[in-house]
Parts: sequence; structure tokens; C-alpha cells
Amino acid sequence: MAQQWIKSPMEVRYREELQALADQDTGRKPENWVLSPKAVRTFILGAARPLKTKDGHEVTIRKKFFGNDALVERCIITLAGSRGLMLVGEPGTAKTMLSELLSAAISGISTNTVQGTAGTTEDMIKYSWNYALLLAKGPTQEALVPSPLYVGMSKGIITRFEEITRTPAEIQDSLISVMSDKVLNVPELEDEGLLFARPGFNVIGTANIRDKGVNEMSSALKRRFNFETVEPVRDVRLEKQIILNEVAESAAADRIGMPVDTDVAELLATTYHELREGISDIGVKVERPSAVMSTAEAVSVYYQTLSNAWYYEYPDLSMEDLTQNLTNAVCKDSKDDLDKLKSYFNTVVKQRAEKVGGRWKEFYTARKYLR
Ligand SMILES: Nc1ncnc2c1ncn2[C@@H]1O[C@H](COP(=O)(O)OP(=O)(O)OP(=O)(O)O)[C@@H](O)[C@H]1O
Ligand SMILES: [Mg+2]
Repeated sequence: MAQQWIKSPMEVRYREELQALADQDTGRKPENWVLSPKAVRTFILGAARPLKTKDGHEVTIRKKFFGNDALVERCIITLAGSRGLMLVGEPGTAKTMLSELLSAAISGISTNTVQGTAGTTEDMIKYSWNYALLLAKGPTQEALVPSPLYVGMSKGIITRFEEITRTPAEIQDSLISVMSDKVLNVPELEDEGLLFARPGFNVIGTANIRDKGVNEMSSALKRRFNFETVEPVRDVRLEKQIILNEVAESAAADRIGMPVDTDVAELLATTYHELREGISDIGVKVERPSAVMSTAEAVSVYYQTLSNAWYYEYPDLSMEDLTQNLTNAVCKDSKDDLDKLKSYFNTVVKQRAEKVGGRWKEFYTARKYLR
């Protein structure tokens, strides 16, 4: 069956897993949560054995976030309390993904979201009006257009605030009273103007440290959140696993019938790891590009190469395409990054091509595309 949307929300993508977890869930549950904290943890970190649903079939709960299980546990418990959760870190470290998974498992919906931009206004955070109704009937509940924050408070679900630090600090501050008093005042509605948050409401913010810093957040707002720093995955095996999982899932969704090549995933994971860390596995110094070497970028380089091979009907992945896609991904910020990539090829890739051969040799041969 053709998929319905280009990117399904987590609660749709993992409907079966969430249902199986709900069927089996006997854990302690905060009010209004769909799953207990224990079941939320299993949903994100995976289960050792398949779960049996009520109607008797088995569902595998796959691990979705890699690298720091304790961070995931802390995030869940934060959301059961009265402070918000702020996920900060480098681009492409799965902050958005984690916030979507948490919202889907806790509230059953991950799309109640404010997207922070330089143009975000207080109306977008609190509420606005349907002007036709406002003119016809005056300020009534019916004429009020609720924001995702308003919806979160009235339904008792999570509101996600993406890229919160891209919003001007004075606009961010409109969250302060909501986060501390859990009440939103709509003065225009007079007697009916106080919206008290229902249990289950909380806010997950994400902030990218390469864009605008969290330093620009007011300290009053910071005090209303628990901060968690999401680090890039530092283990090549884990990074390889993420590439394999994500590419296999996207390929299945796009009906690309080519198997994922584990050697290429390993090569890409190793390359990204070494360029990010500035050192090879045998201690050769590598110059770090200024571009972000995130796992998300590695997944995208692989997937582009795979799509190319599939639609142009090549028998196999082309390492020349891979090298070109890698060059485009790494060298978009600065020309110096191209020299750094070339030097990586001339030292580390060269040595490995001689020693290991295989895909590394093809990779080294494709260095002429580094331009
Ligand atoms: N630790 C990880 N576990 C699982 N997947 C990961 C991990 N780190 C990165 N990824 C991959 O990276 C993708 C991108 O993540 P996401 O868009 O959530 O990053 P982000 O931190 O929100 O980035 P940005 O700051 O650019 O918004 C994920 O969908 C996943 O494929
Ligand atoms: Mg993000």
C-alpha cells in the first residue's frame, strides 16, 4: 500500500508499537499520560523481546534513540514534573526526533508544535483571533484561535517548541507565566479568560547551539526548564547502526528495493566520526571541517547515493556518487573544508585503501570528485 504522507508523525509511524505497549502497560502513570514512564522508556530504548498484543500477534519494539539511555530516562521524569524540558545540542543530534518520540508516547500526539523563528510573535505562542467572528460577535471563545500552547494546556498534552532560541528573547518570555503558574490569561474574555492547564501538559523545547545560543534566553525562563544536552553519537558502531536503520526505514517507505550495504554504512560512519573527532582510529591527526558532521548528514549522504542508484538503475551503490554527495554536504560552509576533506583522503583513506581494500579502495579512487 502506498504511504499516505511523505513523513508520518511518530504516533502514526509507530502505531502498532504504541498499541502493543499500551495493551501491556501496568506501570504507574502520571495523570493523563497515555503510557507509563516505564512504557515510554521501552518505546524509545527498545525491548529485548517482542510484545504480544491483545489480539495475539507479536510486535518488536525497536530502539530508536541511541547513545545515552540515562538522558532519555531523565527526560521522561522531567516531563512528569512541573518543569519543562529543554533539549540543547549540536545540529543533527536527534533533539527533534527525541521530542517527537516523547510527545507521541506520553500524549499520543507529536504534532502540537510551535516552530520558533525570528518572526515568531506572542500571538503564535498564546492565542489569536478569527477576525470575521471577532467583528461579528466580539471576543468570544468561538472567535479565539488557540495556539499549540493553548491546546496543550486545555487538553493536558505536550506542546513542543522547536528552535526556541531563534525566537526573540522578549517573545520567549511570554512562556514564563505559563510555565510557573500553569495558567494563561485571555483578558479579552473577561470572566472566562483564565485557562488553567490540565494535568499532562508540559513543554519540550529544542535549541541548536550552532544557531543562536541559549545564552540569549532569559534566566527567568531558563529556571523553568530542566536542560539536557544531547551529544553527537561518538561510537562508530552505533552510528553505523543508526545509518542502517534510518536508511532501511526511508527506503521501505519510498519503496526503494535495494538492500542497505553494511560496508558502505560503516565507511560513512567511520569517515564522519574521524572528521568530527579530528583523529583516525590509529591516531593520525585529521583536520576538522567547520561544517557540522552530524549523523543526520551521514544518513542523508547515504540515502541520496542509494536513491541515485535505484532510480538510474545502477546495479550497485556508486562510490563516486557517494564522494560527490559527501563533498557537497561537507563543503557548503567554507572553501577550506574542501582542502581538509582532500587531506583526509590523502592520508587516512589512502592508508586504509591499501590495507583494507574493498569499498575503501573504491572510495579512494573516487577522490577525483573532490572539487
Ligand atoms: N542518537 C541518535 N539516535 C538515533 N538517531 C539519531 C541520533 N543522532 C542522530 N540521529 C539521526 O539524525 C536524524 C536527525 O535528527 P533531528 O532532526 O531530530 O536532529 P536535531 O538535533 O533536531 O537537529 P537540528 O538542530 O538541525 O534541528 C534523526 O532522525 C536520526 O536519523
Ligand atoms: Mg531539530
